[in-house]
Amino acid sequence: MEPAAGNPGFLRNVLVRLLLFGLIIVIIRFAYVITLAGESCTVGDFCFFSPSLNLAIAGPGSAALAASAAAAPDRYASKDWINAVRFYSSVFNDLVAGGYLSPAAKSLCVETPTGRDVLALREVGVADAVGISKKASPPLVKSGETRRIPFANGTFDFVFAGDGALEKAPRPAEFAAEVSRTLKPEGFAAFHVKAKDTYSYNSFVDLFNFCCDLVKITDMEGFDSSMPHIREIVVKKDRFGIDSNSDSNSNSNGKCSVPGYKLELVRNAEALIEEEPLKPWITLKRNVKNVRYLPSMVDISFKSRYLYVDVGARSYGSSIGSWFRKQYPKQNKTFHVYAIEADKTFHQEYGVKKGVTLLPYAAWVRNESLVFEINRDPGEKVQGKGRGMGRIQPLQSSNGFDGGEVEKIPGFDFADWLKKTVSKNDFVVMKMDVEGTEFDLIPRLFETGAICLVDEIFLECHYNRWQRCCPGQRSPKYEKTYDQCLQLFTSLRQSGVLVHQWW
Ligand SMILES: *[C@@H]1O[C@H](CO)[C@@H](O)[C@H](O)[C@H]1NC(C)=O
Ligand SMILES: *[C@@H]1O[C@H](CO)[C@@H](O)[C@H](O)[C@H]1NC(C)=O
Ligand SMILES: *[C@@H]1O[C@H](CO)[C@@H](O)[C@H](O)[C@H]1NC(C)=O
Repeated sequence: MEPAAGNPGFLRNVLVRLLLFGLIIVIIRFAYVITLAGESCTVGDFCFFSPSLNLAIAGPGSAALAASAAAAPDRYASKDWINAVRFYSSVFNDLVAGGYLSPAAKSLCVETPTGRDVLALREVGVADAVGISKKASPPLVKSGETRRIPFANGTFDFVFAGDGALEKAPRPAEFAAEVSRTLKPEGFAAFHVKAKDTYSYNSFVDLFNFCCDLVKITDMEGFDSSMPHIREIVVKKDRFGIDSNSDSNSNSNGKCSVPGYKLELVRNAEALIEEEPLKPWITLKRNVKNVRYLPSMVDISFKSRYLYVDVGARSYGSSIGSWFRKQYPKQNKTFHVYAIEADKTFHQEYGVKKGVTLLPYAAWVRNESLVFEINRDPGEKVQGKGRGMGRIQPLQSSNGFDGGEVEKIPGFDFADWLKKTVSKNDFVVMKMDVEGTEFDLIPRLFETGAICLVDEIFLECHYNRWQRCCPGQRSPKYEKTYDQCLQLFTSLRQSGVLVHQWW
């Protein structure tokens, strides 16, 4: 039986509510004084203890929350805000328990627009905590960007980058360098990232290799839908600051070994076309739809630079503009393009393209001048912008030369250039369409170890294919067979290189 709600109960309820209301007013007034009337506690009536002490000793969600409520009532009183502060408080409590964070630690939260994590740090007892974000949000967040953290070298014991901040950074390497710079030697930095694949894990380790060691990795559930899954990674800065970890991936003879996680990626790629297509101009073109791009399989966030190398670029529109810029999934990263094209016909337009470096040479296996035939290619109707306008191919002793123009052009050691230009921390996509020279260039990339610097290759392999124009006839332009091409693709994949059959 439910007791009937009598009058005394009702009165008691009203009284309790009135009292609570009064208490809230007092707390808000108090909070107002300590936050807006200045962090230094000079206003007489409400100053019982210093504000930072107050924030530190307050129980979860009480005075500190109210303090923020005075600054921006809507946001700070919301359920989301309170949830977030609770979540970060428990994260920081765990880090304190693990010895990565101490109450005395001078702490910084980066890319924190509202300072939820800063408040949580203060709540778990880390009094000396501040946040930075593009736009200041006093009293918790100062104005400052991660590209240039507005603090001196070696300022902090602890740096926190929550909410996928590192992933969202356009230049993660600069971000990492700034975090490392502002950390004290042996200081800790904790990151919350979305990525959980092995590729991104390895990139993360490489990205921090210059300064820090990875000391803890934890998977946890997030507190809202923007990041349902969170991987927390904690790194520790080396005692002597920067150490010069040499590139351990390549040994003295320049060879490199492809790590196991790359082999795993290759297994997830689209299958190779094993049988020679009877209508390659259809089959290979259609195959483009099956391609499983690397950025559609893994998170590429933790890379130093993002580069696209187009070997045999021809006109800007032929693949840089029409395919790479438009269709390649880039996870919002800005790629720099290297266009390697020896044919002068195409050079002029590159002068006005932003973010593109033209190398007006032929990719070759050593530095030397080459005699090339400019084949105006009247026999084969090739589709696509800029195609069929003029192709360059190595002048082969007798066959292949059918009266086209001959020109001397500089060739350069492509593998050597690649090794000097990119590092293993860069994300490198390569397209290669070099009219048969792939059978020289690819082995050279292996021999020198440069192959390990490339994350993904789109390779057009040239063989004596069936021709559209003339049924039953193979192209006389190339000597290699489809099997030889297939072998080239297979050996690349067996070595852990993610290569796609390109058209
Ligand atoms: C701060 O650190 C950076 C890199 O870590 C270094 O280049 C710079 O010289 C340092 N500045 C001072 C004032 O020590
Ligand atoms: C790229 O940025 C847009 C807008 O900022 C965002 O909606 C989208 O989710 C981002 N995509 C990736 C893969 O990060
Ligand atoms: C090729 O030439 C370039 C540019 O002059 C030079 O930097 C590079 O070292 C040369 N490579 C070799 C292997 O000689």
